[in-house]
Amino acid sequence: MPVITCIEDLRQLAQRRVPRMFYDYADSGSWTESTYRANESDFQALKLRQRVAVNMEHRSTATTMVGQQVAMPVALAPTGLTGMQHADGEILAAQAAEAFGVPFTLSTMSICSIEDVAAHTSSPFWFQLYVMKDRGFIASLIDRAKAARCSALVLTLDLQILGQRHKDLKNGLSAPPKPTLANLINLATKPRWCLGMLGTPRRQFGNIVGHVKGVDDMGSLSDWTAKQFDPALSWDDVAWIKERWGGKLILKGIQDVEDARLAVQSGADALIVSNHGGRQLDGAESSIRALPAIVEAVGSEIEVHMDGGIRSGQDVLKAWALGARGCYIGRAFLYGLGAMGRPGVAKVLEIIHKELDLSMAFCGRTRITDVDKSILLK
Ligand code: GLV
Repeated sequence: MPVITCIEDLRQLAQRRVPRMFYDYADSGSWTESTYRANESDFQALKLRQRVAVNMEHRSTATTMVGQQVAMPVALAPTGLTGMQHADGEILAAQAAEAFGVPFTLSTMSICSIEDVAAHTSSPFWFQLYVMKDRGFIASLIDRAKAARCSALVLTLDLQILGQRHKDLKNGLSAPPKPTLANLINLATKPRWCLGMLGTPRRQFGNIVGHVKGVDDMGSLSDWTAKQFDPALSWDDVAWIKERWGGKLILKGIQDVEDARLAVQSGADALIVSNHGGRQLDGAESSIRALPAIVEAVGSEIEVHMDGGIRSGQDVLKAWALGARGCYIGRAFLYGLGAMGRPGVAKVLEIIHKELDLSMAFCGRTRITDVDKSILLK
């Protein structure tokens, strides 16, 4: 086993261990992938101010996100098909997040169901909602999340139609993978993954199959999304969803100041500056570049979070300095999960925490809550 020191080590291991169609699903953006790349590279352009001879004892990265205590301002992002990166993936990631003291967000498009994750964890997790044409089904998903004691609802606003990811079409992405010759050849090189999958009953979209009439096989993700997701989603829907949910509401997918103002008007508790990891509108600005204008416009009225491109604790520190009161990691945790299961996700959280803690200290600060944009060079 190689010594793992950074997220990139886990990415490489995941690439070896996870079947190509699922690794590619996570590690890709739409069309030219320019926004996907910019999410990461724009973090590199921000430089930190080193300070010295400051007492660095008694440091803390603890804070709150939507009023909930977190060990650091990081949550696990909702990612589709997580249980295909590793058998029982959502349960394992939720357990790792719970042990570390950060929120886990379960995707509507998960393999393990809401009830299954709730049965295998003890602290509340968050649930991410996609809006489909069948509003009765959406209402039942909200009720199921309430019954499972989820402590926040993350409503995604930027995926009513699916961006084109070339690799998914070429790989024929489906869950479980279809037994084509190309898939069987690839699976033969992933014995750990296959063994894990043989040992679990969880191989379908657990929140959907068996809960929507007539759906026992979803075919390809892109076909299903095109048929079921509602392109007519509007702010009126946000209002009834907020009302039915009645708890903490986080709106995901805000990139524009105008939309951020509408998010404030909706009465949501937080918004996430996000371009869906560069998987929707290729050519959109990176999240870290979009963040400052949104913080400036609405940061005093709503809690602003962000996702996209976070691969280290330094990225979390920079996003915090620019006003994000929470960051979400998607690919970073999936790499850990695909590489090593639950211990891999725990490793990701340890790595990010350590990088955040040390970088904060090198910048002369001991508490994340005291960090502001003066730690960045102009
Ligand atoms: C779904 O959230 C996706 O980006 O594939």
